Amino acid sequence: MNRIFSGMQPTRQLHLGNYLGALRNWVALQDQFESIFCIVDLHALTLPQDPAVLLSNTREVTAAYIAAGIDPDRCIIFNQAAVAAHSELAWILSCHTPMGWLNRMTQFKEKAGKHRENAALGLYAYPVLMAADILVYKATHVPVGEDQKQHLELARDIAGAFNRHYGNDFFPLPEPQILGEATRVMSLRDGSKKMSKSDESDYSRINLTDDADTIALKVRKAKTDPEPLPEAVEELEKRPEADNLVTIYSALAGTSRQDTLGQFAGQQFSAFKGNLVDLAVAKLAPISTEMNRLMSDVGEIDRILRHGADKASAIASANLSDIKDIIGL
Ligand code: ADP
Ligand code: NA
Repeated sequence: MNRIFSGMQPTRQLHLGNYLGALRNWVALQDQFESIFCIVDLHALTLPQDPAVLLSNTREVTAAYIAAGIDPDRCIIFNQAAVAAHSELAWILSCHTPMGWLNRMTQFKEKAGKHRENAALGLYAYPVLMAADILVYKATHVPVGEDQKQHLELARDIAGAFNRHYGNDFFPLPEPQILGEATRVMSLRDGSKKMSKSDESDYSRINLTDDADTIALKVRKAKTDPEPLPEAVEELEKRPEADNLVTIYSALAGTSRQDTLGQFAGQQFSAFKGNLVDLAVAKLAPISTEMNRLMSDVGEIDRILRHGADKASAIASANLSDIKDIIGL
C-alpha cells in the first residue's frame, strides 16, 4: 500500500514557496495515496516560540491546508504533539543514528549560525524526529521541496540501518517526491536565497494571507534585470531573479517555463509583472479568504485536529508496538 506523509512547521506565515513546493502538490496527491498531513509543532520548538503564537500558528496552518484543498474527510490532518509515538520513536531512532550522519546536515549549520554551542540539542536532532514522523506510519512516499532532500535521505539511511541491524525489512525506504515546476522558490529580493519564513525582509516572500495590494507591491518590488524575457530556458537560467519570476508564473499557471517564455518572450519584466500579479491574486486570494473563514471558528479547527490525531494514533501505536517487539522493549 502506498502512503504519503508530509508536514509543515507552524512558525510564522506560510508563503508561496511552501504553497508551490509542497502544499499544492499534496492536494493533487490525495487522490492517489492514503495521505497523512501533519502540522509539525514539535519541530517548531527547535527555535524559541511564544506559546500563544505557536498555538495560533498551528490552527492557521491547519486552515491553510484545508483552504488550499486538502480534504479532512479523506486525509489525516493533525498536529504532531498530539501523537506521542513520534517522540517515542525519535528516541529509539536516535539511538540507532551515528552523530557523524547528523554532522553533515547543512540546515543545522544554517540555522545554528555562528553560535553553534548555544543551539538546542533538538535543533541538531531535528532530522531524527523527522525520520520518526515518516517511519512511524511506514510511509512509502514523502512530498517535499528540494530543501528537505538531505533530511529525507537521512530518514532512508536510518530506516535502512534499523532494518539491517534487526535483520528484517520492517521499514519501507521512503521515496522523496519533488514535484512541480517550482521545487525551490527563491527570495524575491535575492535570487541566490530560497524564499523562507525566516528571511528578515517582508518583501522577500509572498505570504498566503497577503491581500491583492500587498501581492502587487511585492511583485512590483521584486528584483529583476533590465533585459526582456528571453526565448530559451537556457538563457533564462543564467538570470536567477528573472528565472524565479517565470518559474512562479509557470507553476501558478500550471504550465512549463518554456510555455511561459513562448507567451511572453521579448516583453519587459515591468509588463510581465502585471500578468504575474493578476495570476497570483487569482490563485491565492481565494485561499486567504477561505483561511479567514475557517479561522473564525477555531473550535471546528480543533475538532478536525483531534479527529485526525485519533486516526493517526491508531496507525502509529500499532507500528510502535511492532517496533518495540523487534527491539525487545
Ligand atoms: P520554511 O523552510 O519556510 O521554514 P518548512 O521547513 O516548514 O518551511 O517547509 C515546509 C515545506 O515547504 C517543505 O516541504 C519545504 O520543502 C517546502 N518549502 C519551504 N520553502 C520552500 C521554497 N522556497 N521553495 C519550495 N519549497 C519550499
Ligand atoms: Na524548510
